[in-house]
Amino acid sequence: MKKNKDDSKKIESLVSKTAFQIPPSGIRKFFDIVYSMPDCISLGVGEPDFTTPWRISDSGIFALKEGYTHYTSNKGLLELRELICTYLAKKYRVAYDPETQVIVTLGVSQGLDVALRSIINPGDEVIIFQPCYVSYSANIMMLHGVPVIVPMRYEDKFKINPDLLKKAITPKTKAILLNYPSNPTGSTISSETLKIIAALAMKHNLIVISDEIYSALSYDSPHHSISAIDGMKGRTILLNGFSKSHAMTGWRLGYIAGPEFLIGMMLKIHQYTALCAPSMSQYAAIEALKKGDREVEMMVEEYRKRRNFITSRFNEIGLPCLKPEGAFYVFPDISSTGLDSNEFAIQLIENNKVAVVPGIAFGLAGEHHIRCSYATSMQNIRESLDRIEAFVKSL
Ligand SMILES: Cc1ncc(COP(=O)(O)O)c(C=O)c1O
Repeated sequence: MKKNKDDSKKIESLVSKTAFQIPPSGIRKFFDIVYSMPDCISLGVGEPDFTTPWRISDSGIFALKEGYTHYTSNKGLLELRELICTYLAKKYRVAYDPETQVIVTLGVSQGLDVALRSIINPGDEVIIFQPCYVSYSANIMMLHGVPVIVPMRYEDKFKINPDLLKKAITPKTKAILLNYPSNPTGSTISSETLKIIAALAMKHNLIVISDEIYSALSYDSPHHSISAIDGMKGRTILLNGFSKSHAMTGWRLGYIAGPEFLIGMMLKIHQYTALCAPSMSQYAAIEALKKGDREVEMMVEEYRKRRNFITSRFNEIGLPCLKPEGAFYVFPDISSTGLDSNEFAIQLIENNKVAVVPGIAFGLAGEHHIRCSYATSMQNIRESLDRIEAFVKSL
């Protein structure tokens, strides 16, 4: 017994400082509780409740049956890269060359990792806007980069404040990491602000990493990519994928589009660490881009209905809630309850069996908010909001 203990101590001493220091995601803890409580309703999950449209899954199955189970080109299947370029050109008016400017990745997660690895030297600063997706800080820190946090405030509708951004730029700044529409707030970035960010990036010679994974889920106005602004294509690493738009989280498929030189650097990292994205998923994605538009529209329509309902219901309950412009999250303000976001989430799940994610999980600027995903059925949303109302009244 003692020997086992000594051994595990010795092994612990072998772990890298970085692995040790990175905090676990604040989201996972809540999922663990949800799984142990069968009658709990979860508004915590950040993935579509829809299953992948059948025609897309069927193409993946067909690929398996036909034996398309081998490595593909490191960059991904050419047909898929061509379709990705057509999609980007048609939807967001950004022109990329499928041969030299696109890599198919294992979700946006791997695209982000490859993008950061291709530009960060130890000590380099990357500006992120909080509240933001939980992986950003951790990904930067794993590469010995420094995440520089610019807060966004409820009073500003969780929009980027360009003055705060200007102040955050230093000689060590390498990149600005954007996410629009945003996880967790659902807020997006206006064309005017994108232009200001673009001008700053050009003035200070910065890369923009543009995580546009929720672009297809834009409810009020069309999505604009920063890459479409004059002069920006050469310094933008555009990340997008199929997880949210086509309900394909489990297929692990995304892509990077960028200037040829950076794509060349990223391709080396991708080659050595992933080889290629899963081949059957690539065949499924070809179908998604060829014939999946109708299904995406139907999902967006359903999310829009849920968004309208959940936003007005939170406001009715007395928890002020902005109407998100995209993605499938609301981020209501819970400060009137006197609880911090962790206390709120824990007491809500224990007393009224609804799981939400405490806003603090997305950075300090997320405190006094909770993230609720409306990627669940209308019935679940109605019932969970009744439970939240009862919880708030009981305080
Ligand atoms: C903003 C953001 N970026 C990236 C990802 C990762 O997506 P993928 O499934 O494509 O790896 C997520 C997933 O929730 C996300 O919310």
